[in-house]
Amino acid sequence: MAKKLTPKPAKKAAKKPAAAAAAKPSDHIESHLVEKRVFKPSRAFAKQAHVPSLDAYRDEWKRSLRSPDKFWAGEAKGLLWRKKWKTVCEWKPPFAKWFSGGRLNVAENCVDRHCAGPDKNKAAIIWEGEPGETRTITYSQLRREVAKFANVLKRNGAKKGDRVLIYMPLIPEAAIAMLACARIGAVHSVVFGGFSSESIKDRALDSGATMIVTADGGYRRGAIVPLKQNVDNALKDGSTGVKRVIVFRRAHNEIHIEEGRDVWWHREMDYVTPDCPPAEQESEDPLFILYTSGSTGKPKGILHTTAGYLLGAQVTTRNVFDLRPDDVYWCTADVGWITGHTYLVYGPLANGATVLMYEGAPNWPEPDRFWRIIAQHGVTILYTAPTAIRAFIKWGNEWPAKHDLSSLRLLGTVGEPINPEAWMWYHQVIGGGRCPIVDTWWQTETGAIMITPLPGATPTKPGTATLPFYGVDAAIVDDAGRELGANEGGKLVVRKPWPSMLRGVWGDPKRYKEQYWTEYSKQGFYFTGDGARRDEDGYFWITGRIDDVLNVAGHRLGTAEVESALVSHEAVAEAAVVGCPDEIKGQGVAAFVTLKGGMKADKDLKEKLRRHVSEMIGPIAKPDQIRFTDALPKTRSGKIMRRLLKQIAAGQTVSGDTTTLEDLNVLARLQAADDE
Ligand code: WTA
Repeated sequence: MAKKLTPKPAKKAAKKPAAAAAAKPSDHIESHLVEKRVFKPSRAFAKQAHVPSLDAYRDEWKRSLRSPDKFWAGEAKGLLWRKKWKTVCEWKPPFAKWFSGGRLNVAENCVDRHCAGPDKNKAAIIWEGEPGETRTITYSQLRREVAKFANVLKRNGAKKGDRVLIYMPLIPEAAIAMLACARIGAVHSVVFGGFSSESIKDRALDSGATMIVTADGGYRRGAIVPLKQNVDNALKDGSTGVKRVIVFRRAHNEIHIEEGRDVWWHREMDYVTPDCPPAEQESEDPLFILYTSGSTGKPKGILHTTAGYLLGAQVTTRNVFDLRPDDVYWCTADVGWITGHTYLVYGPLANGATVLMYEGAPNWPEPDRFWRIIAQHGVTILYTAPTAIRAFIKWGNEWPAKHDLSSLRLLGTVGEPINPEAWMWYHQVIGGGRCPIVDTWWQTETGAIMITPLPGATPTKPGTATLPFYGVDAAIVDDAGRELGANEGGKLVVRKPWPSMLRGVWGDPKRYKEQYWTEYSKQGFYFTGDGARRDEDGYFWITGRIDDVLNVAGHRLGTAEVESALVSHEAVAEAAVVGCPDEIKGQGVAAFVTLKGGMKADKDLKEKLRRHVSEMIGPIAKPDQIRFTDALPKTRSGKIMRRLLKQIAAGQTVSGDTTTLEDLNVLARLQAADDE
């Protein structure tokens, strides 16, 4: 089956809806057959698992929904509290407070706690750099580094509640910086190292950050990403409130040091001691802001707070990944995304696990890098994205075949629907047919995994995230909020609050309400923005976003964000952006562009526009297709008819209702305009 995924040139792939992009398995005959296959957890796996049977899961899930306060109060005993909470959950829709009256510190929970006993010499982080060097950091070493860097933050003026931007390569110091912020109560906002100067500037302005922690450069496919230079450019016009930049020396590339503003990480560390008691935080004190794309032009700062987030991270990591003391757990996400926050840093460390961290690209220097790492470090759990799996399929089975992958016992995926063919390949070629796969559905906003198999309990079917996690009341509803029957497609909502839910959109309470709570305001449901159906076993099949958000290689991208980047170019009058099927990335970016008078529509300009978008947002937003057109299809009220554009971008014949279209000729001209 995997052979079906042999790559076609990107352009051809865009013309035919690719099998890989089809979220609904029924679109594809073979997928449909795969869907009928059920994989039961093996007896051996179930016997040693935290949750050993479907009945055990169901009983606990029912209990968690019947008495959520009791359930979560029980789970919260697994955290280290400085002061016990008074109430578990106060719910005044759409505002929740969890564990009010309680006090704790996230860094103390993730690090210091494990230093009290024999785990102090256990590896917390095993890191491999892209050029090949490795480092192992024990819990007691991590404690020392975090405490010292917390003192560095203080020395440089950071206080409780201050916002600190972290723009780093995937090196242990990124986690150390996050934990150091948590230790003193500063609020971090990690900016993915693949984002541009403009993105850093936007986030610094929106969050009101006063400090940036960065590195000179980071490695990516052998080249050096000029991180510090990007920070310099972001701060060039002086519009942000950033007063201090702390620079870690990673790539030894030449950089500019701005006297009075920039300091070196290693020099600062010489001035401080490892004595920095963790600051007691209120349960609802902000822990971090993470920007993510929405359906309008500006990314929104999703706010997570202290106790509820940590609890969600800890409990899901333990149960979903069935963590055992001797696991070597590898989550391949970058710290710049929510998966990197919850499942590379906070969740595993809160459980005292050993985390593997790899800095670079999966195909550097050759396409077997992941498999080499697994064999070398004895990785037991691998958590990655469907887009990576599809790329591995394309690169060929000879690469994993070169390495001993027998240490693996559990596999996971996240970020987008996994097509059943990719699931089967992952199961057979990587998991040797013996490892359960957890397909985990969740969002930046949910903070932690929401719909997922539990590996010793839930029979899996390729392509479905299966059943809700404890305490999660997920449902598929129609526009009126009524729950739908088996196999009826509708909107995915969550009907009850959960500890790790977002607490707001930074600086924009209106957007928080409108975006998530207006669709079903009467019922008080959280609207996810995703479409889904449940099958006859109650399993959730996520079909993807139903708003103007794309999912490109598992990363969220607002169509409006790309549109505003395009129209900021001097040649562009108007732009409309839609998703197009892409065999590897799941979705690609297709842009329809009208130019200002006198501008020449040619290949050269297309390339310039692609580069421009990359500079404004980052390389992930680079359009795969750009089509110049003299007009966009609009309704009489002026709304762009995206449905038509999507069909054109997918190379399909335009069908369905076009009666509201203002000018039918536009359509004919658009279809004629090629992406050449
Ligand atoms: C999609 C990533 C299907 C979904 C953790 C969601 C998924 C968006 C899955 C959130 C999955 C994530 N199956 N779709 N297992 N996991 N998604 O905020 O559309 O980057 O709304 O969080 O990714 O993306 P985000």
